[in-house]
Amino acid sequence: MNSTIAITGAAGQLGGELAKQLGGAAASLTRSQFDLSDDDSIRRVLAELRPSVLINCAAYTAVDMAETDADACFRANAKAVATMAELCHDLNIRFVQISTDYVFDAYAGIPTPLSEETPTSPQGIYAQSKLQGELAAATAPNHLIVRTCGLYGGGPTKRNFVETMIRLSESKPELRVVNDQRCTPSYCRDVATAVLRLIRQDATGLYHVTNSESVTWYDMAQEVFSLTRRSTHVHPITTTEYGAPAPRPAYSVLSLNKYAQATGQEMPTWRDALQRYLADRRFA
Ligand SMILES: NC(=O)c1ccc[n+]([C@@H]2O[C@H](COP(=O)([O-])OP(=O)(O)OC[C@H]3O[C@@H](n4cnc5c(N)ncnc54)[C@H](OP(=O)(O)O)[C@@H]3O)[C@@H](O)[C@H]2O)c1
Repeated sequence: MNSTIAITGAAGQLGGELAKQLGGAAASLTRSQFDLSDDDSIRRVLAELRPSVLINCAAYTAVDMAETDADACFRANAKAVATMAELCHDLNIRFVQISTDYVFDAYAGIPTPLSEETPTSPQGIYAQSKLQGELAAATAPNHLIVRTCGLYGGGPTKRNFVETMIRLSESKPELRVVNDQRCTPSYCRDVATAVLRLIRQDATGLYHVTNSESVTWYDMAQEVFSLTRRSTHVHPITTTEYGAPAPRPAYSVLSLNKYAQATGQEMPTWRDALQRYLADRRFA
């Protein structure tokens, strides 16, 4: 055992940001070193590295493709997590699993931010696989599970809502964006900082970590184009009109109360985070 913090999915959005913030303290693991579909590679790497903390940011994240690729999705998001949890138990490693607001579905009545106690109801294959991953991660004695939402970060090469809007606006004067899904898109930089804060404070159990306040994807698109001074016209449409293969929660605004109580910190608002991301990206 040493003081290394191992990060899986280090070439991804959140894993890349965590690796950046941790600098030399991180062992950054990408798919070629640590393959979620290969239990032997998971066992070998963890036995060799013996990190003090394992942060699992690797995941099958192609939400729509998962609907017709369930085996690979469950393999990566549930079975591999169970293997990691077992090894973390055996090797006395603190296990940090990243999960998603998609474990929730629709809301009944007046929408209120969803707490860590709110019953889950995952609808699609990706959502179900991530909830199974949470349950598997919770079998590790020293675990932290962080649910987040709508991640963006890492610049133009990454696949996320903000980058998709910017890319599409380069060829299309008009876009149709759903206006009946409300959540809190979150900047990876802020989420990574919050995850590291929770780790430093030895927090265990389940936490919600997103930027604060909430927005629909339609409003988020309008804000992206306003901040990047683009004239792209955005039309609001419904989830049904958009017709994505995988279901999405209509309301998945996560309550940040538990995080605030544990750390004494408020998360920046989604609007502030988006401004900073676009400024960092040299647009604003
Ligand atoms: N993106 C979101 O909006 C969002 C929202 C809520 C929660 N989350 C959760 O947050 C975490 C991080 O998400 P992210 O947006 O940073 O994801 P991401 O950018 O898609 O990165 C995921 C990483 O996982 C790696 N990966 C995929 N399959 C793998 C396999 N079989 N073996 C090894 N590595 C594999 C990918 O490797 P390659 O680079 O080689 O493909 C990629 O680097 C995930 O647990 C995700 O479920 C994401």
